[in-house]
Amino acid sequence: MDIQALLNKMTVKEKIYQLLMMNTLAYAGKKEENLTGPAAKLIFDKNYLFESGSALNSVGARRMIDIQKNYLENSKNKIPLIFTQDVIHGYRTLYPVNLAIASSFDTKLAHDCAQMAAKEASIDGVQVTFAPMVDLVRDPRWGRVMESSGEDPYLNCKMAKATVEGYQGDMGKYNIAACVKHFAAYGAAEGGRDYNCVDMGEPTLRNYYLPAYKAAIDAGVMTLMTSFNSLNGVPSAGNKWLVKDILRDEWGFDGVVISDYASFREMIVHGYAEDGKDAAYKAMEATGDIEMSSTNYPLYLEELISEGKISMEQLDKAVLRVLKLKDDLGLFDNPYRSTDVEEAEKIILCKEHRDLARYAAEESAVLLKNNGILPLKEDVSSVAVIGPLANTGEIFGNWHCGAKAEETITVLDGIKSIIGDRAKYAKGCDIEITSTDESQIAKAVKLAKKCEKVVLCLGEHQFDSGESQCKAILELPEVQYKLLNEVLKVNKNVVVLLFTGRPLAIERLDAIAPAILNMWMPGTEGGNAAANLLFARSVPSGKITMSFPRVSGQCPIYYNSYNTGRPKLQKDLVREKYTSSYLDVLNSPLYPFGYGMSYSTFEYSDKAIDKTTMTRGEKIIASVKVKNTGNYKCKEIVQLYIRDLVGSIVRPVKELKGFEKIELDIGEEKTVTFEIDEESLAFYGADLTKKAESGKFQVFIGASSDCEPFAEFELK
Ligand code: NOJ
Repeated sequence: MDIQALLNKMTVKEKIYQLLMMNTLAYAGKKEENLTGPAAKLIFDKNYLFESGSALNSVGARRMIDIQKNYLENSKNKIPLIFTQDVIHGYRTLYPVNLAIASSFDTKLAHDCAQMAAKEASIDGVQVTFAPMVDLVRDPRWGRVMESSGEDPYLNCKMAKATVEGYQGDMGKYNIAACVKHFAAYGAAEGGRDYNCVDMGEPTLRNYYLPAYKAAIDAGVMTLMTSFNSLNGVPSAGNKWLVKDILRDEWGFDGVVISDYASFREMIVHGYAEDGKDAAYKAMEATGDIEMSSTNYPLYLEELISEGKISMEQLDKAVLRVLKLKDDLGLFDNPYRSTDVEEAEKIILCKEHRDLARYAAEESAVLLKNNGILPLKEDVSSVAVIGPLANTGEIFGNWHCGAKAEETITVLDGIKSIIGDRAKYAKGCDIEITSTDESQIAKAVKLAKKCEKVVLCLGEHQFDSGESQCKAILELPEVQYKLLNEVLKVNKNVVVLLFTGRPLAIERLDAIAPAILNMWMPGTEGGNAAANLLFARSVPSGKITMSFPRVSGQCPIYYNSYNTGRPKLQKDLVREKYTSSYLDVLNSPLYPFGYGMSYSTFEYSDKAIDKTTMTRGEKIIASVKVKNTGNYKCKEIVQLYIRDLVGSIVRPVKELKGFEKIELDIGEEKTVTFEIDEESLAFYGADLTKKAESGKFQVFIGASSDCEPFAEFELK
């Protein structure tokens, strides 16, 4: 399609409406009909409804086809609508939440899962997904940590690339456009409270928060979403420095920039824009292209152009970017693209997809504690499957695209599929965080007493993490502790399966539970995955990518922090006056970044680097031998960290610079090697340019971030 010629034929108003995104249902009726749903609340020129550019939220293949058809029949320019949806951790076959997927440290898995989601979404009528979310997160009070890959920028970049390539990859008509979000630094919302402001210096922004957005752009992401938060006082939707100067001019991003939901309008509420006109001006100055679910562009852009405040060139550029996206997706050739009612019925939730979702849940689970009770034996006489999350499908995770609990395998179902009726169920208590009802505990205790083993499913409800689901208290509700304690009184053989979208503060749980297997929010096949892990049909290998605090008051907490001038020296003692520490709690997390157990054991030996001096352009090879010394064939995630000892600005006590997931037979040993190059040492220093500064570096290799340096080299 000659999009320039198309643009030339459009009136100013028609161009402006291409920039508007409204709820899909807005386009379902006839021109003269009254709007219903979210679009009914919007003020705009109804004559241009069928010139608007895009639709928010999927309605399924059949309706998508009807709506697109209706739209094109009513539209003057007949530029197809683009259909968008939050396909975040799967479409209808849900895989574990993204924080869980990150715990697999398996970029191919992240890629394959995104690809599966793209296939289901595209045949059901979706062309753009608002993913990946690559906000770096350090505070699990923020509910949206579930969508992220955690606290480490290196892993975040790898996952961003893999996910973008999964959605946009090599599946032809099944590809969908990805949208990296939320630009920028939304994950640093103050106090872990959603939509809250972010204040941070440029070195921190550039060294930790920006790299993953850039990685997605380098991977070819077609669109980007700005964030709700203000950054150093400026809401992202109207942040010219961030979007125009950094994203467009410095990084060369020429894809579509989409606002988050009504965030143009929210600039007024932030106190950054005087009114809708000012908001439209600021958004356009920042080169925002699509306005999602508010109508400041339609209402004010024309006026701004006629007053000469916004140029035609600015508008044309934005519209061309939107038209190009449609053209790149092939919508001009086929406005329905791969939407296919019959294929949707066959492919969505098919066995192959369920198998991948189950595998992903197995790879993502993290064994946090095991006193030896795990794995369970398949000839066990009976298992009491207890807890508010034991017999519910509501463990698939928050972003679910219409998935249903009935489509999800519960833990009870999963265990039954291995041991049949020897699995018995009692609920024990409710999951609501406000619940104090202890009336169901006695029945659960009675069951626990009769059974050989107990699997206790605790944690949070799937909708208690996600957008707007922030918590000041990360501890488990008291009623869940009461249930656990009562059960332990009659049966010590208790395995806790933890379901959560975020690190919880479970120091008390760790102190009393014989074993804790963190399943996160494991998706459609969660119950089967849990059962396979419990009975060692698959061996846990995941490692957490966000530190688990001991208590909520430690947040934010992350491994790659600074040393301070007064670091705490006695790591295991609480009180240490005049050091950077708390009077009442250790500094260290309960479980550190990169931590996770296996049913097997490993021996790390012969850690080495090939030289102790690195000249520019050279590489250092670090290596280690890892041996499976246990009784299970399994996987291990081997991690490389460095510490830059002195910098023009202070450097973290440790930074992940490499990882490798290896599979080892019983008794097998493998050598793992890592390359350390100049790029892996580079950072934005005092002069805000990115480079590796000369000096000394420590090298660490280990099974988690809690490892000691074994060598030092100097960059000359
Ligand atoms: C608001 C969320 O912040 C964003 O992540 C999402 O993509 C949009 N709503 C659209 O649903």
